[in-house]
Amino acid sequence: MKYLSTLSLLVAGAVAQQVTFQNSSSTILRVDNGTYGPEIEEYHYYYDQWPIGLAISSTGRFFVSYTRGDYEYTVGEVVNKTAEKPYPSQDLQLPLDSLNMTWNGIAFGSGNSSAFVSVQALYITPETSTRPETLWILDTGRPTVHNAAGDPSMPYAQPGGPKLMAISLANDTIYKTYTFPSTVHYPDSYLNDLRFDLRANVSGTSGEGIAYLVDSSNEGRTGFIMVDLATGDSWRRLNQDHSVLRVPNDVPTYFGKPFYFRQLGQPISWQQEGLDGLQLSPDGKTAYYSPLTSKSLYSIPSANLRERDSNPLAEIWAHSNVSSHGQRGGDANGFEGDSTGKIFQLIPEQNAVYYYDPNDGQTHGLLRDPRILWPDGATVGADGYIYININQLPYQPDWNFGVDGRIHPGAVLRAKLPDGGTKISTLY
Ligand SMILES: *[C@@H]1O[C@H](CO)[C@@H](O)[C@H](O)[C@H]1NC(C)=O
Ligand SMILES: *[C@@H]1O[C@H](CO)[C@@H](O)[C@H](O)[C@H]1NC(C)=O
Ligand SMILES: *[C@@H]1O[C@H](CO)[C@@H](O)[C@H](O)[C@H]1NC(C)=O
Ligand SMILES: *[C@@H]1O[C@H](CO)[C@@H](O)[C@H](O)[C@H]1NC(C)=O
Ligand SMILES: *[C@@H]1O[C@H](CO)[C@@H](O)[C@H](O)[C@H]1NC(C)=O
Ligand SMILES: *[C@@H]1O[C@H](CO)[C@@H](O)[C@H](O)[C@H]1NC(C)=O
Ligand SMILES: *[C@@H]1O[C@H](CO)[C@@H](O)[C@H](O)[C@H]1NC(C)=O
Ligand SMILES: *[C@@H]1O[C@H](CO)[C@@H](O)[C@H](O)[C@H]1NC(C)=O
Repeated sequence: MKYLSTLSLLVAGAVAQQVTFQNSSSTILRVDNGTYGPEIEEYHYYYDQWPIGLAISSTGRFFVSYTRGDYEYTVGEVVNKTAEKPYPSQDLQLPLDSLNMTWNGIAFGSGNSSAFVSVQALYITPETSTRPETLWILDTGRPTVHNAAGDPSMPYAQPGGPKLMAISLANDTIYKTYTFPSTVHYPDSYLNDLRFDLRANVSGTSGEGIAYLVDSSNEGRTGFIMVDLATGDSWRRLNQDHSVLRVPNDVPTYFGKPFYFRQLGQPISWQQEGLDGLQLSPDGKTAYYSPLTSKSLYSIPSANLRERDSNPLAEIWAHSNVSSHGQRGGDANGFEGDSTGKIFQLIPEQNAVYYYDPNDGQTHGLLRDPRILWPDGATVGADGYIYININQLPYQPDWNFGVDGRIHPGAVLRAKLPDGGTKISTLY
């Protein structure tokens, strides 16, 4: 040990005399080039609105969502490599002056259930014998609004605003809308992601399958929300379970620097987000998940999420059946999965995508690249690629005392999945 450290001091001293370090090709030292995994392609560039959610159809149609704010539209379709347009129409994007209202001095998001307020996430399920290929829209009903001083805040949701909508990609028309009672979606809930099991015989459902949603509420009442797609009934599970709660005082490292939350009008604070990533195993039996502010991965048998409140033990059983898969080496944002059973986890701290392999119980690196500046969502296509939305979120003004440090363009990056992995087809 002593010998080695003396040697490296000598080498470092010699290099310092010979070259001025500028970049990796001007040093003789081993350098972390920040890169591994399959080749990454720059698939799409965002020059206008910064994206959040994404989904790709069986024919390669590409859809994007953008949380509002001050954007004219919240759901878009990519038209070419550098542009998107409102989808399915501008009429369905609630006008900016209708996004929020004030009642008794308290700010609320719009309760309009027939137009989009602020869409966080998208998901596409393939065509089945009873359902067209469907673009699912998850509307939080909670835009971010700014007062005259530019201070951001998020009004409470009112029933009708937060919703799950189904659009047929065969006719680009909304064919079903699910809203939530206030006992299921609270005023301070925040719908963050969604997954589906559309099989008619899934236990605890009424024949048209189920949606699993996550409530990541920064206010803290996190948990799962399920929707029986036949009846529209919805219920919560794992309410504020230890496994869905934010980890307090979490300071992640983004782009090499410790990150604190810096909102205009507020004291410096910490990232607050609870349950965020969600992915089903290809057999639908296991739901993997984690809070954004945690380094740990959890799972639960999906049957425990489907158990209804009519069973007084449902919440106790769910809690008792949570499994920890240990730490994974960083905080994680969105999840995805593929036909091989890999559970992809976006790791903004490492500009990387990791995956949990249920076969060996470990988390591994899949992709790393300096261009992955906050991977916000990912979608696996039927073409065997993983597509990743890059939106530079930690540089947004609402996290930096009002200063916008993002640099256009944002991007969709894509990479071919290893081991013949492709979009899961067994749940539909
Ligand atoms: C890295 O340094 C080498 C040698 O000084 C130089 O030729 C090259 O252009 C530099 N590359 C970048 C990306 O700055
Ligand atoms: C970066 O380093 C890794 C690991 O040493 C190597 O496999 C990869 O080829 C390098 N990539 C580039 C772009 O230099
Ligand atoms: C992409 O579409 C936009 C909007 O329709 C248009 O302005 C732009 O010229 C198009 N770019 C290319 C390369 O076709
Ligand atoms: C909801 O918004 C749409 C689009 O702006 C509008 O046409 C409709 O009248 C609104 N519905 C209600 C109940 O306000
Ligand atoms: C929407 O919220 C902003 C910021 O709090 C506020 O200035 C504005 O008055 C609100 N709009 C309505 C209609 O309440
Ligand atoms: C679009 O497709 C859906 C689902 O198949 C169907 O219910 C609806 O009637 C269709 N709407 C139009 C306008 O064709
Ligand atoms: C449930 O339905 C799927 C097709 O949707 C079928 O593959 C599976 O075998 C069925 N499972 C049972 C237990 O019947
Ligand atoms: C796990 O859930 C099942 C129902 O899906 C239940 O029968 C069992 O008792 C639960 N386990 C524990 C330890 O609560």
